[in-house]
Amino acid sequence: MNDFVFHNPCKVYFGEGHLGKMGPEAARLGGRALVVYGGGSVKRSGLFDSIAASLAKAGVTVYELGDVEPNPKVTSVREGLAIVRRRNVDVIVAVGGGSVIDAAKAIAVGAFYSGDPWDLVLDSSKIIASLPLIAVPTLAATGSEMDNCAVISNPDTGEKLGFASKLMVPTVAFLQPSLTTTVPAFQTAAGSADIFSHLCEVYFSRDRDLTMLDREAEGLMRTVVEFGPRALRRPRDLNARANLMWAATWAINGYLDGGKTQAWSCHAMEHELSAFYDVTHGAGLAVLTPAWMEFCLKCAEQWDKSDDVSLEHEALVVLDKLYAFGVNVWGIDPSLPKAKVASKAIKATRRWLFKELRLPSALRDLGIEKSSLADMAHAAVMHKGGLINGFVPLSERDVKKIYKSCW
Ligand code: NZQ
Ligand code: ZN
Repeated sequence: MNDFVFHNPCKVYFGEGHLGKMGPEAARLGGRALVVYGGGSVKRSGLFDSIAASLAKAGVTVYELGDVEPNPKVTSVREGLAIVRRRNVDVIVAVGGGSVIDAAKAIAVGAFYSGDPWDLVLDSSKIIASLPLIAVPTLAATGSEMDNCAVISNPDTGEKLGFASKLMVPTVAFLQPSLTTTVPAFQTAAGSADIFSHLCEVYFSRDRDLTMLDREAEGLMRTVVEFGPRALRRPRDLNARANLMWAATWAINGYLDGGKTQAWSCHAMEHELSAFYDVTHGAGLAVLTPAWMEFCLKCAEQWDKSDDVSLEHEALVVLDKLYAFGVNVWGIDPSLPKAKVASKAIKATRRWLFKELRLPSALRDLGIEKSSLADMAHAAVMHKGGLINGFVPLSERDVKKIYKSCW
């Protein structure tokens, strides 16, 4: 067990009856709000109008920044900052998917930095303060509504990078599951894969774990496994949407971390797919996650055969975790040999992602060219300081192998 601090100050309104409190909550934080949104889904659904009406009723002046794209660009952040400065904005309201919330976070911290906001992405120690942020997620996926990270792309450098600060946790979040009933099937599936991956990134660790947190993560994985496909079959099923929404939030709000060191291996590899090809984040993760699990299992099997005692120990740690994943998430017969359970678990993961969620199963199906694999592998490892030091440490060669195995 590791020592850790858990502190998440975000106030969450969950359910269908709270959005009217948007105005009073914003008014408490300031009189001039910048409402940030994406390509138009919140305008079409009428959500923007009802939020603007609630803000106006509470005496809050509304400014707008729309057209924030998926895989949000630093150019949107700069645009938002220009409005913040021109209008003396004192609260940001993000209404949309993770891309919108992430751009809003970067604007909120950029307001207290005189240089270019990309500097903060490269070096979060430059973040000194943040405008208060209210998040209204319309898609269950990233958990950005209650976490401390944002992921921003820079078209000039071809990079997509995550950065984190405790100052980027939203002040208030309104989680209304019915807002996600209009999310298209592909985005619903990609969002489910993203939530599942967030759980895997923390769960698959070689650190000493709190068993209680592992059981919590397994429960959340089972929740996503059940309700992701159900939301695809029945998009208006509020119970499915609510379960996905709350699972997304708790997968990444810090609760499951338990002081573990984390490398977020699949995310490091996926961010290059999005940086090079602008692919949908969850779809990229869906292809990579089982390929990465397969790679981890192969390493453990090789280490197990070695004469090196420390490698044998590492093999056991990896196998034990894949075994627990198989038994507790996928209900595989615990009396089978560990490696057999692990391989069945990977197969079950594939089935869920590619048959039930109907996501593409190969990198080439996402438009990725074989000729880019080496460059993407180089970038993924370089952004992690030369090694993705996670559950199984990944060198540039390893990442290239994983990319190739699922190309
Ligand atoms: O732009 P609009 O018109 O709103 O349409 C969006 C967009 O086209 C649409 N959408 C969202 N809510 C909808 C809806 N369409 C109909 N009805 C609704 N209710 O969905 C599309 C995708 O939106 P996006 O915000 O890009 O999706 P998501 O929430 O999956 O966010 C992905 C971004 O978040 C980053 C990803 O890398 C990616 O850039 N991540 C952020 C994290 C964080 N902050 O902690 C962690 C994640 O691992 C992830 O990296
Ligand atoms: Zn993610």
